[in-house]
Amino acid sequence: MSSETADAKPTDLAKVSSGPAVVIHPRWVRVTHWINVIAMFVMITSGWRIYNASPLFSFTFPPEITIGDALDGLAGALLWHFAAMWLLAVNGVIYVALGLLSGRFRRKLLPIRPSEVIRDVRAALTGKLSHHDLSVYNAVQRLLYAGVIVAGVVIVLSGLSIWKPVQFQELAAVFGGYDGARFVHFFAMATIVGFLLIHVTLAILVPKSLRAMILGR
Ligand code: HEM
Repeated sequence: MSSETADAKPTDLAKVSSGPAVVIHPRWVRVTHWINVIAMFVMITSGWRIYNASPLFSFTFPPEITIGDALDGLAGALLWHFAAMWLLAVNGVIYVALGLLSGRFRRKLLPIRPSEVIRDVRAALTGKLSHHDLSVYNAVQRLLYAGVIVAGVVIVLSGLSIWKPVQFQELAAVFGGYDGARFVHFFAMATIVGFLLIHVTLAILVPKSLRAMILGR
C-alpha cells in the first residue's frame, strides 16, 4: 500500500485504482483541521484581549482585532478563551492520537533532514518547488507541520499551567513557574501566528491543496 493511500477506506481505494480521485487527506484529518481553525481563531483573538489587560511587553493588540467584552475588556474574552479551550484541547488530542496511531505522522512528516529543508527552501524561493504530487509533503511542509503540532501541544500545556498554577504546579515548574509559562504561552502563540501567515498564503497560492483539504481529493 502506498503512503498516500494508507489512511484510505476500501471505497476510497476503489477510486484510486479506477481513476485520478486519490484520497489525500482522510476525513478525520479534514474534520479535525477545520475544527482546529475555528478553535484557534477564537483562542488567538480572545487571547490578545486578555494579554492587553496585563501586557508582557511594551505593546498591546488593537482592540478591533480581538474578541470579547468591549465594556470591561476582560470578562467576555476569558469566557471565549475558556470555551474554545475545550474545543482546541479535545480536538487536538483526537488529531494527535490518530496521527500517531495510524502512522500518518511517521509516514507524512518524517524524516525531516536539514539538507532537504535547505534544498526545498532554495527551490521555493526560486519558484522551482513542485506541488505536482499533493500526497507527499516536501521537507519545508514537514518541518512547518511538525513544528506547529509541537507549538500546539506547548500552547495547551502552558495554558493549563497559567489557568490552574496550583493544581498543575509540576507542569508549571517545567515552564519556570507561572510567569515563565506566560512567556512560553505568548511565544507559542507568536509561532502559530507566524506559521499561519505562511500557511494561509501558500494555501491561496496553491488552491488545489485547499481543495484537497476540503474535499479530501
Ligand atoms: C484559514 C486557515 C487555514 C487554511 C486555509 C488552511 C489550509 C490548509 C491546507 C490547504 C492544508 C493541506 C496543505 C497541503 O497539502 O500542504 C493544510 C494542512 C495542515 N494545516 Fe492548515 N489551514 C488553516 C489553518 C491552520 C491552523 C490554524 C493550523 C494549526 C495551528 C493548521 C495546521 C495544519 C496542519 C498541521 C496541516 C497538515 C495536516 C496533516 O497532513 O495531518 N492549519 N491546511
